[in-house]
Amino acid sequence: MKLWNSRPHPWLIQGGMGVGVSGWSLASAVAATGQLGVVSGTALDTVFIRRLQDEGVSPALQECLNAFPNQEIVGSVLDRYARPRASENAPYRLLPLYSHHSPAARDDVTVLAAYSEVALAKRGHTGMVGINLLTKVQFPTVPTLFGAMIAGVDVVLMGAGIPRAIPKLLDDLSSLEAVTLRIDCVGAVADRCERSFVPGRYKVSSSLDRPAFLPIVSSATLATMMARKASGPVEGFILEAPSAGGHNAPPRGVPQFDDRGQPIYGERDAVDLEAFRELGHPFWLAGGITSREHVVHALECGASGVQVGTLFAFCRESGMTASLREQVCRRVLDGTSVVTTDSRASSTGFPFKVVELEGSISQQSTYEKRERICDLGYLREAYVSPTGALAYRCAAEPVQEFLYHGGTVDAASGRKCLCNGLFATIGLGQRRKDGEEPPIVTSGDALASIRPLVCAHTDGYTAADVVQLLCPHSTQHVNQSAPVPA
Ligand SMILES: Cc1cc2nc3c(=O)[nH]c(=O)nc-3n(C[C@H](O)[C@H](O)[C@H](O)COP(=O)(O)O)c2cc1C
Repeated sequence: MKLWNSRPHPWLIQGGMGVGVSGWSLASAVAATGQLGVVSGTALDTVFIRRLQDEGVSPALQECLNAFPNQEIVGSVLDRYARPRASENAPYRLLPLYSHHSPAARDDVTVLAAYSEVALAKRGHTGMVGINLLTKVQFPTVPTLFGAMIAGVDVVLMGAGIPRAIPKLLDDLSSLEAVTLRIDCVGAVADRCERSFVPGRYKVSSSLDRPAFLPIVSSATLATMMARKASGPVEGFILEAPSAGGHNAPPRGVPQFDDRGQPIYGERDAVDLEAFRELGHPFWLAGGITSREHVVHALECGASGVQVGTLFAFCRESGMTASLREQVCRRVLDGTSVVTTDSRASSTGFPFKVVELEGSISQQSTYEKRERICDLGYLREAYVSPTGALAYRCAAEPVQEFLYHGGTVDAASGRKCLCNGLFATIGLGQRRKDGEEPPIVTSGDALASIRPLVCAHTDGYTAADVVQLLCPHSTQHVNQSAPVPA
C-alpha cells in the first residue's frame, strides 16, 4: 500500500468494467491524470490469450514480460498461445475450463495475464492502478490477484458477492505464503471444494507490496459486516447504487417487477449514509455520477470521492469495439438509447443492465438465434451431483445439459451467455460455424448523460475529457452546446 498510504485518496475511481472494457489502455489513461485507473480482472486469462492470438507480442508487452520473474512460464505460455489463428474466421484456441481438478499450471496463464495487464497499465506515469474482480468468479481469483501484485497493483476492488476471505489472502500473498480459497458449492459440506495456490512456483524473490482492499457494497449493513468480520483489514468501500452499470445487487425483500420485468427498488434499498460515515472508513459513491455537481455533492456527504463507469465505457480508450461505441453514441444523440435492468440475463442471479442494441443479444431474435454453448465457464457454479461427485453447471448452458446437471427449465429461461457476449463486445468474440458470437453491452441507467461529451468531441471523447468534466476543482466546462456529429 505504499502509494495508497503516501498520497491523498483519489476523488475519482474509474470503475472496473469487465470483460476487458476497462483494459490497460483505459486504466493507464485515467491513472495518468492522477486519479485511480482500474483494470478489469474478470476472465483476463482468456482476454490475454485471445489478444496474443490476434496481435502477438507488442514491444510494450515484451518489455513487461521480460521483467516477469519466471521466464520459463513466459516461454511456455507464449509457445502455446502467441501464434496467430489460421485466418480471421478461425476459432480462438481455448483454455481448459477451471475446476477443482485443474493443475497448478492452469494458473500460469492467469498469473501472467493479470501481471501483464497491470504492468501495461502502470507504464509511462506514476499514478495508481487498481484491479477489479467479481467475487462470484472464484477459481481465477487467487492467481489473478497474485499476478497483479507481482506487477505492483495498488488497489483491489471486489463486488458481486461478499469477499470476506480476501483481506487475509492479500496479506498472505504479499508475504509469498501458500493460500487456499474455499469455492462455494451447492449441496457440499463447508470445506469440500477448495483451491490452493503456491506462490513459490513463480520465483518472486522478495515480499510484495500489499494492495489496499476496497469491497464494493450496496448497503451500510454489508459494509459493517465486512469491516468487522472480514479476514483482515479493509481500507475503504465503494458504495454502489442500483443505477450502476454491470451487475446490481438485487432489491431487498420479496422481489417485485415493473411492466418491463425490471426489479423494483424501494425504501429498504436506500443507503444509510449516516451509518456509513459512522463506520469511519473512507468511501466512494458509485452509480449515476455524471456531473461535477454530483461529485461535489458526494464530497459534501462525507465521501472521499466517486466511482464512475458509464462515462468511461464509451470513451476512446475503452476496450469496447469502436463500432459498438459509435452505435451507442448515435442512439444517445437521437434520444433512443434504452437501458434495461434484466433480472434474468445473468446466470449469477444478480440483475444485469443491458443496452438495447441491434445485433446484440439484448434483441430477442438475436438471443433466440444463438445456439447455447458454454465453453468459457467463468460463471459456472459448483454443485454436488447425485453420485456425490463435484460437478459444474451454468444456467446459460444448453438447456438439456443444464437439466442433466440438476437445473430446471425455469432457472435456464432467459439466461444470456455473458461470457461469450462480453468477449464479442471487446472484439474478441468466438468464431462459430454460423459467424461470430453476438455481443452484449452493459451500461448504467444514466447512459444518456454521455451526450454532452459526445456532442463536444465529434471524433470521440477521451478518458481525460471525463476526468475534466467531473473534476470538482476545475472551472472549465465541456462545451455542451457543440454541434451534434452527423
Ligand atoms: C460496461 C460496464 C461494465 C462493468 N463491469 C463491472 C465489473 O466487471 N465489475 C464490477 O465490479 N463493476 C462493473 N461495472 C460497474 C462499474 O465498475 C461502476 O461501479 C459503475 O459503472 C458506476 O456506476 P455508473 O455506471 O452509473 O457510472 C461495470 C459498469 C459498466 C458501465
